[in-house]
Amino acid sequence: MTEHATWDPTAYARFSAERSRPLADLVAQVRTDDPALVVDLGCGHGPATMMLAELWPKARIVGVDASEAMLEAARERDGHGRVEWVQSDLREWDPASLGQAPDVIVTSSTLQWVPGHLDLLDAWVTSLGDGGWLALQVPGNFDAPSHRLMRETAERHERAGELTAALDLPAVGEPATYLRYLARLGCEVDAWETTYLHVLDPAGEDENPVLSWVTATALRPVLDILTDPEERASFVTPYAEQLAEAYPRTPVGVLFPFRRVFAVARKAAPRGAA
Ligand SMILES: C[S@@+](CC[C@H](N)C(=O)[O-])C[C@H]1O[C@@H](n2cnc3c(N)ncnc32)[C@H](O)[C@@H]1O
Repeated sequence: MTEHATWDPTAYARFSAERSRPLADLVAQVRTDDPALVVDLGCGHGPATMMLAELWPKARIVGVDASEAMLEAARERDGHGRVEWVQSDLREWDPASLGQAPDVIVTSSTLQWVPGHLDLLDAWVTSLGDGGWLALQVPGNFDAPSHRLMRETAERHERAGELTAALDLPAVGEPATYLRYLARLGCEVDAWETTYLHVLDPAGEDENPVLSWVTATALRPVLDILTDPEERASFVTPYAEQLAEAYPRTPVGVLFPFRRVFAVARKAAPRGAA
């Protein structure tokens, strides 16, 4: 796997309504009205973090991400400097750097890129104030045609060794994985999964909207390696053809089922506390 995929905020923003829905569904289960400090780990180019700032207008909001390109786009979006944007790899990020215990930690569509992410949850839960919340969401679609066809195309490519290694992402858990893990850390946990049925490109302007979707996310590690136009085309052309077959256009647009896994954990308050 590459150390960090290169992120393109413009490409990622293309399906922003579909991409922000899981965060809304996730934080709907975080039942706190007035948190003092909210942290968004893997904040990306900012719209999700700005949504948190709108939801909790009085809270201090911190967004952490490894990608300078994403953070630059986030800072531009946040013209009034509402959010503190911090560049850090989540494997190195120290919650003590916040200077106070967070009330809510959110991480959405990010941990699938972070090797050993389960181990990080211990420190994050420990850092929470009593009764604090950790809310996470990861894609659970690695067996979907979009990803399976990508791996198969990589295996047939002349640079198969590098490509298959780059696509060897850390496994994400099932809802029960996160539920058990976070319960063992002393949290009350609500874990679930949802398969969204996204309707992509209803206007029929994009020949291959699923390719456009993955170009901004799962395909990044491949694009980082195949910088030569011919080499890139020898991957993208056959992959695009197979995607178009797997996700045909319907009268309403291209249907793109997308499974996601959610867990919301509440850290127990100490005995005797209200
Ligand atoms: C798919 S985007 C998600 C952005 C946002 N949370 C959302 O829901 O739209 C994934 C983000 O995770 C960041 N990321 C990936 N690996 C990371 C790591 N090890 N440390 C910090 N950020 C990381 C990427 O830079 C990218 O901005």
